[in-house]
Amino acid sequence: MSVDTVRWTGGVDGYARLIDQTKLPGELVYLECRTDEEMVGAIKRLSVRGAPAIGVAAAMGLVLGVREAAPATEEGLLEALEASKARLAASRPTAVNLFWALERMAQKAEVLRGRGVAGMLEGLLAEAQTILEEDDALCRAIGSNGAHLIENGDGVLTHCNAGGLATSGYGTALAVVFSAHEGGRRFTVYADETRPLLQGARLTTWELMQAGIETVLICDDMAASAMQSGRVTKVVVGADRIAGNGDTANKIGTYGVAVLARHHGIPFYVAAPGSTFDLSLSDGGGIPIEERAAEEVTEPGGVRMAPEGVRVWSPAFDVTPAELITGIVTERGVIKHPNAKKVRAMMGER
Ligand code: MRU
Repeated sequence: MSVDTVRWTGGVDGYARLIDQTKLPGELVYLECRTDEEMVGAIKRLSVRGAPAIGVAAAMGLVLGVREAAPATEEGLLEALEASKARLAASRPTAVNLFWALERMAQKAEVLRGRGVAGMLEGLLAEAQTILEEDDALCRAIGSNGAHLIENGDGVLTHCNAGGLATSGYGTALAVVFSAHEGGRRFTVYADETRPLLQGARLTTWELMQAGIETVLICDDMAASAMQSGRVTKVVVGADRIAGNGDTANKIGTYGVAVLARHHGIPFYVAAPGSTFDLSLSDGGGIPIEERAAEEVTEPGGVRMAPEGVRVWSPAFDVTPAELITGIVTERGVIKHPNAKKVRAMMGER
């Protein structure tokens, strides 16, 4: 199972082509981004979403931004890059992969100095492609490192979408599931619908069903009963930012699932690549949490569900304390019962 979430088409004069995830599962349509502002819009409205996919999209957006500025000199290119980087960085605050990818592109630009404007632009596009290809390799390694955690007969709960659509194509939490399934294990995945934007209902079920995996959709408020009744035996989720001590920001509702899992004695795993770790933060308290528009809660799908003018609080992410996490599955292995020392030992030197 793999999807072409974000791809570059053509050479430096080409464009980024994204699956428009706002249209799934009804329609599989692609969006073409030819300017960095178009990419910023696609990221903001979640046409492209999920931490690693946002990183790849931002890297490609930077190429678009620099090209659009048509700089005459290398200095001009670096200035255009900084301006574009600032625009892209303002799109969404929580997934650290966005900032990681932009920083990597900026460092690459410094290395490319001396090649001329055209050479630098080509080098930047090649770097964006490398970020995409590396992400695929990381996701596949996460899959192989985590597959053994899923056993025959398990009921695996996942929250939001940490599948191919959230990455370059294979996923993180779902990579573990896909890899276990490809290895012959048979189990059921319970997908939380994930209010308010329904990434679980719209995207995760779409991916799992295509992969031929037994899939059961539940509303978010059914997770406790699914655990109490013995249906759910493991939890695997993705991450948007993991602090130095293992505290993990992921889609709003993940923390609640982790608390429920602890109460029921159910293992709770996070799956994420190195690009999702933010070792500059000692704990999750410093992770910026995006707040989204009230209409996403009051008018899902354009249908009003709450009185006009009602106040709404809509954080898009929450932070699960490391102490509730049984293990973090990375491309380097599983960090069991994460803490600062173990996170540094596994992810410190990259
Ligand atoms: O708001 P979204 O849809 O971008 O949130 C996505 C998530 O929370 C995912 O679980 C996370 O980015 C991990 S993706 C591999």
